[in-house]
Amino acid sequence: CSAGDKSQTVVIGLAADSGCGKSTFMRRLTSVFGGAAEPPKGGNPDSNTLISDTTTVICLDDYHSLDRKGRKEKGVTALDPRANDFDLMYEQVKAIKQGTAVEKPIYNHVTGLLDPPELIKPPKILVIEGLHPMYDPRVRDLLDFSIYLDISNEVKFAWKIQRDMAERGHSLESIKASIEARKPDFEAFIDPQKQHADAVIEVLPTKLIPNDNEGKVLRVRLIMKEGVKYFSPIYLFDEGSTITWIPCGRKLTCSYPGIKFFHGPDTYFGHEVTVVEMDGQFDRLDELIYVESHLSNLSSKFYGEVTQQMLKHSDFPGSNNGTGLFQTIIGLKIRDLYEQILASKVTAPTRAARA
Ligand code: ADP
Ligand code: G6P
Repeated sequence: CSAGDKSQTVVIGLAADSGCGKSTFMRRLTSVFGGAAEPPKGGNPDSNTLISDTTTVICLDDYHSLDRKGRKEKGVTALDPRANDFDLMYEQVKAIKQGTAVEKPIYNHVTGLLDPPELIKPPKILVIEGLHPMYDPRVRDLLDFSIYLDISNEVKFAWKIQRDMAERGHSLESIKASIEARKPDFEAFIDPQKQHADAVIEVLPTKLIPNDNEGKVLRVRLIMKEGVKYFSPIYLFDEGSTITWIPCGRKLTCSYPGIKFFHGPDTYFGHEVTVVEMDGQFDRLDELIYVESHLSNLSSKFYGEVTQQMLKHSDFPGSNNGTGLFQTIIGLKIRDLYEQILASKVTAPTRAARA
C-alpha cells in the first residue's frame, strides 16, 4: 500500500478568547499551505468549518453541549467547560487523527442553536481552534503542536471596540460589560491553557510610547518552547544570544515611535523557551526583507518567503506589526512540522518491511 494510506492526520490546536484574531491567523496559515480555506460546499451555510486542499479548520464552538438558551437557563457562559462536550470532542478528534470521518455537530452562531451535524473527512492537517483546544488532557495529548494567542486586556478591549462598535453597532458600555462578565471564566478556563502551548503569541501595548493607551502600536512576543519534537525556535542573529536590535535607519524606514526587536532565552511556566519580540510597526512592508534576513531557522522554502506572504496579505489585520509577522512564521514552522512527520512515516514502514 502507498505511504499515503498510512499517513494519519496531523492535529494542531489554536486557543484564544473569541475576537482575538484566530480567523485571521487561520487565513495566514492556510495561505502558507498554498490554498484559501473555504466553507464546505453544499452544506449548512452557517457551518463554522473551513476546508482547503490540505487543511480543515474546525471551530470548537461546535462542541457546545448547551445552546444559547441552555446556557442562559443554567447561568453558564460558553467558556465554562460545563457548556462543552469534551467526551465527544476527544472521540471525534481521535477518530479523525486515525483516519475515520466523523459527523460533527454545528453550533449555529446566528440562532444560538445546535444544527444537524456535518461530515468531516480526515484531512492532512486538522486545526482545532477555539476556546478549549488544550483544556481536556485527552484532547491535548492528540495535538502535534499547540498555539495560544495571548492578547492582553488593553489590546483585547481596543480590538473589541473596533469590531463590535464599528461593525456590529454595540455600545461602549455593553462591550465593557461583556468583557467584564467573561473575565472570571476566561481566567479560570481559557488563560491557564497557555502553559501547555508549544508557541505563545503575546500581544501587549507598546513600550515605545510612554503611557500609550491607544492600543494601535503593539509589542508582540513570540514565545517558543524548547525541546518540542519537529519544532525548533527561530532566532535573531545567533542562537542562545540575548539581543536588542533597532533595525531603523538606512535599510528600514521607521516613523515615530520606531521599531525595536529583542531576542533571548527565558523560562515560561517552568519551561525553557526562546523569545523573539517586536515592538512597533513597519512603514513599508517590502522592507521587511531586511528584518527577515536577520532571522534564522524560519523553515522557509526560499529566501524572502516571509516577506512575500506578508505582502500577499497586507490587507489582513496586523500585517504591519509583530502579530502578522509571527503568525506567518508559525505557519511556516507548522508546514515544516507536517513535512517532518510525513517523512518520518514514509521511512518508518520501509525500515520495518526491510527487517
Ligand atoms: P476571532 O476569530 O478570534 O474571533 P478575528 O480574526 O475574527 O478573531 O479578529 C477579530 C477582530 O480583531 C478583527 O476584526 C480585527 O478588528 C481585530 N484583529 C484581529 N487580529 C488583529 C491584529 N493582528 N491586529 C489588529 N486587529 C486585529
Ligand atoms: C463565545 C463563544 C461563542 C458564543 C459567544 C456568545 O464567544 O465562542 O460560541 O456564541 O461566546 O455566547 P452567548 O451565550 O452570549 O450566545
